[in-house]
Amino acid sequence: MEQKRYGHFDDQHREYVITDPQTPWPWINYLGNEDFFSLISNTAGGYSFYKDAKFRRITRYRYNNVPMDNGGRYFYIKDGDTVWNPGWKPCKTPLDFYECRHGMSYTRITGRKNGIEASVLFFVPLKKWAEVQKLTLTNQSKEVKQLKLFSFEEWCLWNAATDMENFQRNFSTGEVEIEGSTIYHKTEYRERRNHYAFYHVNAPIQGFDTDRETFVGLYNAFADPQAVMEGKPRNSHAHGWSPIASHYIEVTLQPGESKDFVFLLGYIENEQDEKFEAPQVINKKKAHALIAELDTTEKVDKAFAALCEYWDALLNIYKVKTGNDKLDRMVNIWNQYQCMVTFNFSRSASFFESGVGRGMGFRDSNQDLVGFVHQIPPRARQRIIDIASTQFPDGGCYHQYQPLTKRGNNDIGGGFNDDPCWLIFGTVAYIKETGDFSILDEMVPFDNQPGTEVTLFEHLKISMDHVIKNLGPHMLPLIGRADWNDCLNLNCFSWDPNESFQTTENVSEGTKAESLMIAGLFVVTGKDYVALCKKIGKADEAARMQQAVDAMIEAVKKDGWDGEWYLRAYDFYGRKIGSNECDEAKIFIESQGWCTMAEIGAEDGMVAKSLDSCKKYLECEHGMVLNNPAFSKYIYEYGEISSYPEGYKENAGIFCHNNPWVIIGETLAGRGNDAWNHYAKILPSYVEEKYQTLHKVEPYVNCQMVAGKDAFRPGEGKNSWLTGTAAWMWYTVSEFILGIKPDYDGIRIDPCLPETATDYTVNRKFREAEYEITIHPNGSQKGVKSITLDGKPIDGTVIPYSAGKHTVEVTM
Ligand code: GLC
Ligand code: GLC
Repeated sequence: MEQKRYGHFDDQHREYVITDPQTPWPWINYLGNEDFFSLISNTAGGYSFYKDAKFRRITRYRYNNVPMDNGGRYFYIKDGDTVWNPGWKPCKTPLDFYECRHGMSYTRITGRKNGIEASVLFFVPLKKWAEVQKLTLTNQSKEVKQLKLFSFEEWCLWNAATDMENFQRNFSTGEVEIEGSTIYHKTEYRERRNHYAFYHVNAPIQGFDTDRETFVGLYNAFADPQAVMEGKPRNSHAHGWSPIASHYIEVTLQPGESKDFVFLLGYIENEQDEKFEAPQVINKKKAHALIAELDTTEKVDKAFAALCEYWDALLNIYKVKTGNDKLDRMVNIWNQYQCMVTFNFSRSASFFESGVGRGMGFRDSNQDLVGFVHQIPPRARQRIIDIASTQFPDGGCYHQYQPLTKRGNNDIGGGFNDDPCWLIFGTVAYIKETGDFSILDEMVPFDNQPGTEVTLFEHLKISMDHVIKNLGPHMLPLIGRADWNDCLNLNCFSWDPNESFQTTENVSEGTKAESLMIAGLFVVTGKDYVALCKKIGKADEAARMQQAVDAMIEAVKKDGWDGEWYLRAYDFYGRKIGSNECDEAKIFIESQGWCTMAEIGAEDGMVAKSLDSCKKYLECEHGMVLNNPAFSKYIYEYGEISSYPEGYKENAGIFCHNNPWVIIGETLAGRGNDAWNHYAKILPSYVEEKYQTLHKVEPYVNCQMVAGKDAFRPGEGKNSWLTGTAAWMWYTVSEFILGIKPDYDGIRIDPCLPETATDYTVNRKFREAEYEITIHPNGSQKGVKSITLDGKPIDGTVIPYSAGKHTVEVTM
């Protein structure tokens, strides 16, 4: 079925071009790479924050708004009686032309109306705590134009949660200062806050507003603010209520003339003893300095060029040329870009994650790392240390931590028994990419308590031991609160809708609840751990853990196999979950993914049978569902998973995150055609071509969940952007399909391709080397026959690392 299209890819500029503002859902982008961040939709909705979307929200945004996505950075242009915005919203005046280009950490929105073009470039310059909005107004008509321009931002009172709650206080605390063309927001600065924000424009202004009700009018809306409609700013000074920032500028444009205005939304922190320049007057020194760095078109253009170069460099580390545009653009541009965004935000701030709910996930961040480590290894290194610092001495972990404080989050606590294994997963990926074994000797505390430091290696060891010390009656890992599937809550037993499934009861006494997902994860990461130990000369430790891994493999073969697939779990009472004997949810994806990745029972045909069962029972038009058939009723022994209606989220949704696990299983089994078919089904560029309307969310990135075959509207996407899917898609395609695998001593080449694949080239920067690798598949799905390095044949499939430029030819 042909569906309406709202945009298209522009690969040359690495942009997605939206040509209709009325997308099926706001299609957003992220600005900023460290510290200062913004979310921006295709109609300029969204908000900004410093480091932490909960505790340092700079501008206000209302989730669950009607209409959706109201509030953002708005420019109102009053041209005679017509008032319009370059991004169409909020006035929704029909435009003569509209375009939004989402690029790598920038967005450019252009509108045209009655002979005027307004184009706004939004970005956060590298290392700056500010969002630049460069507005270019061009008179394309034959007459002189007199325009009235109003800018608009609404301040958030810093804590995004209390900002939406504590009105009895909030309506009395708001404070601003106005100085020339700069509006300062200083709520709570008089007491415990050492930070303020400002909104500046690099031109003289003819008026301003800082009080929302005065500017908008109590009975008007963002779509028709009174000050704008009347073309008259009020020069209001906010005291309490809702402070905003709006500049008013009168602009005259000759025919053909063009003018730039640089707007700057900035954030400043001051030292305690340098807070004020006079009683109650904020010290603006740092703001002045920041403004001076970005107050001309030339300076801003230079900062933008630097940002583009930064992305060029990042995206030059791994580049593929297959001739298939849909694959190349995801690998070379969007998948890597999404990995960076997910690494930065974990699951905190998107149009589905409100930024007040969750900090950084322990397991999430370790997985995100795998998609990001090749881009900026030092940041990945720091992340590993931060994560490990929230571990407990027994190997358990805080499930989440706050990015601002880096402290474990007590509200959610620990007890998710898969968490420890992921630390090995992340650390091994880091060392393989960088060759930096020294990270293992870093001294890392427990629960951030000074004085408790042990080496990172010791943290890895106790992580493995945490699994071994928590085995159940079948010698399989006890699940705890949940494993990767946060919603499989086998020790929770909740009948109270006011309880959280994740934090309520975790009945460990007498539980027999075991997880096959953790079993598979333990075998995969255990093998990695063993190899690492051997590599660093810890033979005894390697042998000890090999035994545990072997024992786990035996336990899975004995009590984790259902005949055609791997079981999913045992419940509290020791009853099977994910078995043919069950009425519903007979098969689950997670254990198929992890046990096939672990290749458990491959020699007995278990892996092949499991993969076939995934195709038979889980696969549908839009990907593989999590379980089948869906649960049709709440089962209190199972928890949240059975709380979702059929086909959504963890109850038989296509939870994209886990599809790559099966795909990797397929590649390890050498089944390139099947791997590719599964992969293409959830690859955004393929979905983009066919299902823009149905899919609803951004077509340039993966979303967490696509409604499954049991759902009311199969194929509809939700929870876009922040998902482990990004890293897993990257890991899968870069290492297992295209077959370029960083390893301790070099790069292992081991592609697994559909038989239709033709010759392709990967340019891979790796440590101090750069490899140009050409693969000749010759119709084969798997198996490297021969490799030459700089013209000379090598033994085996690992290109030994050496600095410099190299050419590699691979024949399959
Ligand atoms: C979300 C969570 C992740 C969890 C997954 C499955 O993506 O962030 O931690 O593993 O859901 O429940
Ligand atoms: C994951 C799941 C979601 C669940 C949440 C709890 O994000 O996707 O369904 O509510 O975890 O933390």
